[in-house]
Order: sequence, then C-alpha cells, then structure tokens
Amino acid sequence: MKGSILEAKNIQKTYLLGKTELHALNNISLSLEQSELISLVGPSGSGKTTLLNILGCLDSPSSGQLFFQGQNMSQKKERELAEFRRTHFGYIFQFFNLIPVLTALENVAFPLWQTRLSRKEINKKASQILEIIGLGKFAHHKPDELSGGQQQRVAAARALISDPQIIFADEPTGNLDSQTGQQMMELLKTINKEKGTTVVIATHDSRVISQTRRIIEIKDGEIRSDEKN
Ligand SMILES: Nc1ncnc2c1ncn2[C@@H]1O[C@H](COP(=O)(O)OP(=O)(O)OP(=O)(O)O)[C@@H](O)[C@H]1O
Ligand SMILES: [Mg+2]
Repeated sequence: MKGSILEAKNIQKTYLLGKTELHALNNISLSLEQSELISLVGPSGSGKTTLLNILGCLDSPSSGQLFFQGQNMSQKKERELAEFRRTHFGYIFQFFNLIPVLTALENVAFPLWQTRLSRKEINKKASQILEIIGLGKFAHHKPDELSGGQQQRVAAARALISDPQIIFADEPTGNLDSQTGQQMMELLKTINKEKGTTVVIATHDSRVISQTRRIIEIKDGEIRSDEKN
C-alpha cells in the first residue's frame, strides 16, 4: 500500500486471568500511513493502550503480525526491537515516565546517550528542543520541580529528540488543563506537519479527536470504525 509505514495483520491479544481468558484485542488489522495524524478512541478497557503498545513494539501480540516498512517485527529479536524502538519510534505515556533523578535536559537527552553523538552535540540538541517547547529556563529542574504540564512537555521533547518516524501517545492530554493540553496538541501537530511524522494518539479527549484527520474507534478489542476526513 502506498506510503504505508506500519501494518498490523490479524492481531490478537489474550490475557490469562486464572482460568479465564480475556480477549483484549480481537483480529485487529490496520495500516498506518506516513504523515498521518490519528486518534485511537474507545471506552475505558476497550484495548487502546494494549493496541498502542503492540503497534509500538513495547508488547507482543498473542497472534498476528506487525510489519514496519515491510519488515516483519514479530521475527525480530529483543535486541533488534530495542534498537528499532530507539531509532524509529517515540513514546509519550500518560504518566510521563520521566526519570526522577535526572534533570529536564537529561531526561530529554537520554535516548541519544547510546548513539554515536558526542555529549556536547546531544546537550545542544536537547537544549534546542527545550527552547522550542518553552522550557529553556527549566533545563536543570528535576521532574518534581516541574508542574504536570511542564513534565508532560519534557516527556514529549524526549519522544521527539531522536526524530522518530512514528510517535505513540497514550492520553497525552489526560492530565492537563485545556490550555496546556492544546499546547501539547499544537506540538504534535507541528511535528506531524513539518517533519511528516506519523502520530497515533490514544485519547478520550474530544478536543484532541476533532483535530485529527483519521479516527480509529475500538470497542471490546475490535475496530468499530476507521474514518478519514
Ligand atoms: N497486563 C494485563 N493483564 C490482564 N489484563 C489486562 C492487562 N492489561 C490490560 N488488560 C485488560 O485488557 C483490556 C484492555 O485494556 P487497555 O488498557 O488496553 O484499555 P484502554 O482502552 O487503554 O482503557 P483506558 O481508556 O481505561 O486507558 C481491559 O479489559 C484490561 O483489564
Ligand atoms: Mg489506556
């Protein structure tokens, strides 16, 4: 398919709870195109986070396959997957997952620590991103010295620093007031537009949903609708 960057084929995810099987995802097939801005919506417990984690190779499906630019991800070893995650994917989690002992600058910079770039180059890049998101003055603050909205922006900066091809964001505005939430959305929209990064956002937030061109709705682990506007 033209421009397809990530393709899921018949993804199932089953959790075993005692003797009961819980089918968190049932036969999900979808294709994400380059430069798409997508909302993944559905009620609580419908499988959004599970699907996002599988698409982002943070979790593996019980069955089915995932192809990134035509490469079968299910056949890759954990080390290769880790490299893929670091170089091609960016993640923004609902609860930020910042490292408490590192400063804002270090949190943003750390995905690049294992690359060939020098510390000086890395810190320059991290500083520039912090400036762009309006946190230049807070570079040396630790997460607990930042507000929730500021922490969320640091988490976004960390996801962006390695110029990923796809960004996976799980409820990125969930803990933010409407103004800070809109700043987060503007940041994601800018990256999507200027760099052509594919952005997938799991969300309940109608203000987010109305700003995305494609809306994938899941319910009980199945795709209910997939609309492109
Ligand atoms: N590690 C796990 N073990 C067992 N069941 C799980 C596990 N993770 C998720 N589930 C179950 O899978 C289903 C889908 O969960 P998921 O977290 O993907 O939902 P969600 O759509 O992200 O919900 P929310 O909007 O509340 O974040 C739920 O029924 C949940 O209880
Ligand atoms: Mg969730």
